[in-house]
Amino acid sequence: MSSLLLFLFLFLTPSSTLEFRYHNNREIQQYLVEINASNPDISHLYSIGPSVRGQELWVLALGLSPHRHTVGIPEFKYVANMHGNEVLGRVLLLQLIDDFVRGYRNKEDWSVKLLNSTRIHILPTMNPDGFDESDTNCLFSQGRANYNGVDLNRNFPDAFAGLRKQPQLDESRREAEVRAVIGWLRMESFVLSANLHGGALVASYPYDNSNGGSELVGGASVCPDDDVFNHLAKVYSHNHASMHRGDQCRDSRLFPEGVTNGYLWYSISGGMQDYNYVWAQCLELTLEVSCCKFPPQNQLPALWTENRKSLLAFIMQIHLGVKGRVFDGSGVPVQNAVVEVKGRSNMCPFRTDKHGEYYRLLLPGEYVFTVTHPGHKVLTETLNVPHGPDQYSAMKHDFMLRRIPATTVSPQANPTEANSTEANPDPQL
Ligand SMILES: *[C@@H]1O[C@H](CO)[C@@H](O)[C@H](O)[C@H]1NC(C)=O
Ligand SMILES: *[C@@H]1O[C@H](CO)[C@@H](O)[C@H](O)[C@H]1NC(C)=O
Ligand SMILES: *[C@@H]1O[C@H](CO)[C@@H](O)[C@H](O)[C@H]1NC(C)=O
Ligand SMILES: [Zn+2]
Repeated sequence: MSSLLLFLFLFLTPSSTLEFRYHNNREIQQYLVEINASNPDISHLYSIGPSVRGQELWVLALGLSPHRHTVGIPEFKYVANMHGNEVLGRVLLLQLIDDFVRGYRNKEDWSVKLLNSTRIHILPTMNPDGFDESDTNCLFSQGRANYNGVDLNRNFPDAFAGLRKQPQLDESRREAEVRAVIGWLRMESFVLSANLHGGALVASYPYDNSNGGSELVGGASVCPDDDVFNHLAKVYSHNHASMHRGDQCRDSRLFPEGVTNGYLWYSISGGMQDYNYVWAQCLELTLEVSCCKFPPQNQLPALWTENRKSLLAFIMQIHLGVKGRVFDGSGVPVQNAVVEVKGRSNMCPFRTDKHGEYYRLLLPGEYVFTVTHPGHKVLTETLNVPHGPDQYSAMKHDFMLRRIPATTVSPQANPTEANSTEANPDPQL
């Protein structure tokens, strides 16, 4: 083949350019299957389960080791179209996949470095059934819910429900799409995530709910990692073409710097971002990426340009803070060790995964860490944390526990129990 022909062949391969239009669910599946088939070295396609009507919820994982977790490589995710009629996120995430793959094939530094340091999971539609029902209107909510008419962003277990007046949702009323996401969070230990919506232009962060307890400060429901969340939201809004200006949509309220505490905007019970943060120790934002829920097709290239830099800058933030492993007295990685940072009492303390790993997103500064595990002495260490995103890696630090001498160990506190417990605590508190 002459080089001209080769050039034409490469250029005209269908997967090389992704059209700016709304792909239906079948087309999205087809696109993901093609990307997976032609990029086996950096992609892995899997389903987290079916929707109510039996459409698979496909996730494409991208990374230099796409099939499984690698110790030291944090897991990131983007989820779009949880509300079936909020559709720009679908388009953005498909374009993002295309950009990553093309960038990697062209050996562009940004793509190679991100895929070498991060495993990125992309779920373009969490509510394919809702999308099928949706109207192309900017404001209306036709298609928002799933096939059973349930708003998926009100259907997760809620940390604040049950404690006071708000009733906890019965487990049997959990929708298929929500069960799929909960299962996904148990399968992978995600560190950072965002969930793309439409109808406003703002980056919103936990909490979305409150019991009117001490978390309620000046109308906001403030979580222990408020400083980190505020930073994460600003990374998105300031890298976006206009979100940081804060008043871009007609009739919308003013959002200083384009960010807001979720509860301060409006409270919801059973939301996905609080669930991620409280029960899966994954920091998740809710990104409202367009004033119009279903933007006209001819606006898609401009909307992609407005969001592209933000989408990439946000992924980079997974390298904030500290990461490493916890080892027991004999050098074996410890699962389920509690790794806490002084001044941040998370409702469910963050725990090590099955490889004994922990990841803790923190802004640069000095932090006191406490590591606890049955049968071992409580370990306290002060760490000076630099800014990781520039290095494509959080600071690395391992914790070495020391056993409490055998005579004082109670029978149930056996030191080597790496396999005996699950990575995540039970969500039914
Ligand atoms: C993804 O590609 C691999 C390698 O070609 C293939 O074995 C696998 O079945 C594909 N997965 C899906 C879901 O198409
Ligand atoms: C990936 O990162 C590792 C260490 O961080 C480095 O040694 C390796 O060269 C990188 N690979 C690529 C393809 O950049
Ligand atoms: C964990 O399980 C694996 C395989 O099931 C086993 O080889 C290993 O010894 C176990 N580790 C501990 C600490 O029990
Ligand atoms: Zn929404």
